[in-house]
Amino acid sequence: MANPSRRPLVAGNWKMNGLRASLAEVVAIKAGIAGAGCDVAICPPATLLREAAAEAAGSGLLIGAQDCHAAASGANTGDISAEMVADAGCRLIIIGHSERRADHGETNEIVRQKAEAVWRAGLLAVLCIGETESQRRGGETMAVLARQILESVPEKATSANLVVAYEPVWAIGTGLTPSEDDIAAAHAHIRARLAERIGTVAAATSILYGGSVKPSNAASILSLADVDGALVGGASLKAADFLGIVAASS
Ligand code: PGA
Repeated sequence: MANPSRRPLVAGNWKMNGLRASLAEVVAIKAGIAGAGCDVAICPPATLLREAAAEAAGSGLLIGAQDCHAAASGANTGDISAEMVADAGCRLIIIGHSERRADHGETNEIVRQKAEAVWRAGLLAVLCIGETESQRRGGETMAVLARQILESVPEKATSANLVVAYEPVWAIGTGLTPSEDDIAAAHAHIRARLAERIGTVAAATSILYGGSVKPSNAASILSLADVDGALVGGASLKAADFLGIVAASS
């Protein structure tokens, strides 16, 4: 784990899952994290942000969005701004998720603008990077990660406003994970490239691993040097699974 100056974060990304009945999972997660040795966040779909944030208010559970537009307001049908997310009572926003990059054409430049938007609204940016399967097979992983950091992390990032999430695209939702050595190497590389980009604060900036994290593999992944927590998709939908991962982080 993590350098003691970096408090681990376990964040759940519900993606396009969850109706109002799923707020019961938020209630259960809130109840289950008392005394957790890490920060805990859930990012439900936009329709549930306000109610989830109200449910979590006053507890240690943070609620966040899965995306935002770079602008504060305007003629952007279907989008929500970082200011709207903050107004709903949220504390963080995931940006640059590979599903946004792949399905919505988000480039590193767009992700960089979204990071600025998240900070303009006073929230924490959880900025996702990661290589695709073909990039991995082509031996391009480290170069891809370096480029994503250079182009999508604004220079004014600090350890207080930025968390980086390393999510190999081929590991998301597949049940596959990189070897522990590969995760450790990627995280060390990310921290080194981050230091070139934002300076010494990189040492205090959390880097999460994401991609098929579940209760059974969480402890070994979270114990790796430079892994400061997890971004969890499928296993965050049920409180029992998610709380198993939270427990593994302490
Ligand atoms: P997964 O998703 O845990 O279902 O693999 C991770 C993510 O996309 O953040």
